[in-house]
Amino acid sequence: MRNQTKESGRSDDVAIHGEITISGKVTIRDVEPDDLRHLTWFGALDDFRDTIQKNYRAHQQGRLRYLIADLQGFPVGQTVVAFERPADMPPDDGAAAYLYAIRVLAPLRSVGIGTALARAAEQVARERGCQRVRLTVQTVNTSALALYERLGYRAIGQVVSEWSYTDAHGRLQKINEPVFVMERAI
Ligand SMILES: CC(C)(COP(=O)(O)OP(=O)(O)OC[C@H]1O[C@@H](n2cnc3c(N)ncnc32)[C@H](O)[C@@H]1OP(=O)(O)O)[C@@H](O)C(=O)NCCC(=O)NCCS
Repeated sequence: MRNQTKESGRSDDVAIHGEITISGKVTIRDVEPDDLRHLTWFGALDDFRDTIQKNYRAHQQGRLRYLIADLQGFPVGQTVVAFERPADMPPDDGAAAYLYAIRVLAPLRSVGIGTALARAAEQVARERGCQRVRLTVQTVNTSALALYERLGYRAIGQVVSEWSYTDAHGRLQKINEPVFVMERAI
């Protein structure tokens, strides 16, 4: 069998030895202790191990909600809903929740998991009494921008986001990046 399309990213002349179509139920739920060892996705997010652990602890302390997209027990997507304004967000009236670090495992993108995570985050924010959700997105992140716009978020400003993280080698990385601040009433 020969591959006929370029959509898979494979070359046209690679030999195909079998093909199945898979489906499965993805559940959006709170993070669990068992997730912690999987959240760096086999090393892909090692640079954010420290941040992930901090967010996990903050979830346990009730300071934010760490949401997981669960496929057969594995966290294939993740995001954080915070109720305290992050330093890179402009001041607001205090009625906003903040959505950040939304990520979907690369081979499972574009099937609706990011949408389900964002909608679940909005529900969590609503239950907490928030009136809107705010987020920042890099001005160059076209796929995330398209997703947020489709979900009803509108840019309310552009700022330079300054943040830092400790990478997998223990080095402090300082980031300075232009971002849109986006918002949606919930
Ligand atoms: C941004 C990100 C979280 C989106 O996650 P995702 O699971 O691919 O999002 P969805 O599948 O819900 O939506 C993506 C696209 O798939 C399409 N889609 C959604 N459900 C679909 C379905 N059932 N069938 C076909 N296409 C579908 C949507 O129309 C959407 O298209 P659009 O982006 O042109 O609007 C993901 O790309 C990611 O992890 N990126 C890297 C990390 C990142 O940049 N995060 C954002 C930080 S601000």
